[in-house]
Amino acid sequence: MTDAPRLAVFPGSFDPLTLGHVDVIERASRLFDRLVVALLVNPAKSPLFSVDERKSIIQEVFASRPSIEVDTFDGLLVDYARRRRATAVVRGLRSGGDLDYELAMASMNRHLDADVETVFLTPSPGVAFISSRLVKEIVAHGGSVDGLVPEAVQARLLRRRGAATRRNA
Ligand code: PNS
Repeated sequence: MTDAPRLAVFPGSFDPLTLGHVDVIERASRLFDRLVVALLVNPAKSPLFSVDERKSIIQEVFASRPSIEVDTFDGLLVDYARRRRATAVVRGLRSGGDLDYELAMASMNRHLDADVETVFLTPSPGVAFISSRLVKEIVAHGGSVDGLVPEAVQARLLRRRGAATRRNA
């Protein structure tokens, strides 16, 4: 054991950041000295928000929290975690539905690098049903994402809708 600060990486697509993510980030930041929210740069996906927008949303939400950093990565998560000298990778576990995928990913990451430990955190029941995929679906159909995403996401979506309405006027 050393007294070195314990850093954890919370990786994901965060497209968009949801209140479920915020909950897990808050929980993880209480367990580690420093938490890096690591956004995967994945050019294959067609995202709701660009990587820069997603990064600035997360930075805005956690602006008052110096122990929470936002970064981007590409390539293998284990390589990024090693580069950051992370003690752990944090993932949220919402339901049994997440379990197979998350176990496979954690086991694969352990196979790739036995030093990378995955820590699963469960979100509050009130936000455990939220997923970025469903939020995107609601947005695509013009529904309300009130209570599902932070203000910073809502504000950008409203701005976007306003611009689209003005274009079509
Ligand atoms: O928010 P997501 O999309 O569920 O996050 C998935 C993520 C980014 C954690 C995962 O796709 C990932 O780690 N990608 C990087 C590439 C990698 O290391 N793949 C092997 C993991 S088995």
